[in-house]
Amino acid sequence: MHLQAQGVTVRFGGLVAVDEVSLRLERGEILGLIGPNGAGKTTLVNVLSGFQRPLAGTIFVDERDCTGLPRHGFPRAGIVRTFQAVRLFRGLTVGENVEAGYVAQGLGRAQARRRALEILGELRLADKAHHVAAGLSYGEERRVGLARALAVNPRFLLLDEPAAGLAAAEADELRKVIVEVRSKYDCGVLVIEHNMALVMNLCERIQVLDSGKTIAAGTPAQIRSDARVRRAYLGPDALQ
Ligand SMILES: Nc1ncnc2c1ncn2[C@@H]1O[C@H](COP(=O)(O)OP(=O)(O)OP(=O)(O)O)[C@@H](O)[C@H]1O
Ligand SMILES: [Mg+2]
Repeated sequence: MHLQAQGVTVRFGGLVAVDEVSLRLERGEILGLIGPNGAGKTTLVNVLSGFQRPLAGTIFVDERDCTGLPRHGFPRAGIVRTFQAVRLFRGLTVGENVEAGYVAQGLGRAQARRRALEILGELRLADKAHHVAAGLSYGEERRVGLARALAVNPRFLLLDEPAAGLAAAEADELRKVIVEVRSKYDCGVLVIEHNMALVMNLCERIQVLDSGKTIAAGTPAQIRSDARVRRAYLGPDALQ
């Protein structure tokens, strides 16, 4: 099973934000999507998750064309995304935040609470269930965002800069959690990240965008040594 973008183009006025990009995410794999600021990464994820209609191109889940689906059709097709900035209800507890995700899926209150506690345990947040979300560290906040996304039981999980602002130890904790989530849910995970240590250690494959175009795709080792990637994006020393 796979999620696929084929020839996706998005324009904002005269700007071509995504320019005939194709991408394929297999269920069970972890794919990195990297590139400099403004490369089109978030816009592509917006298209893959139904938040943005492409000007051209097609989104498939296996052979099924999902391009024209309404926004809520995407989670139903198993595609769930997180945002660059976490959107928690800061006045509610961590447990209530996650519960809300399950209630939105149609679960009753008691069942939603049970599932929320279970998932918080999986994400090593069980002890935070009764804490107010406003008091969380960045790393904890990211994991709560992830817990909420998991309420949909995704087959394809799209994470937009999950490690932004995290210290190295927190980013590493997040890396372990993402690997566990992939195994437990057997989902494909697409990770947009600027944290190269995380990308290189986490992802099995990496696709690189620059100015809306794919400039490279391959294993971390291939990307690390790709001359075009180094030139366009990272500079000669950034991938050591
Ligand atoms: N809603 C919008 N209206 C107009 N231009 C937009 C819009 N969204 C994105 N853009 C532009 O499209 C281009 C791609 O933006 P996008 O957010 O996809 O980049 P990105 O790769 O996610 O960058 P970053 O690493 O900074 O998050 C940028 O030039 C951006 O300014
Ligand atoms: Mg972005």
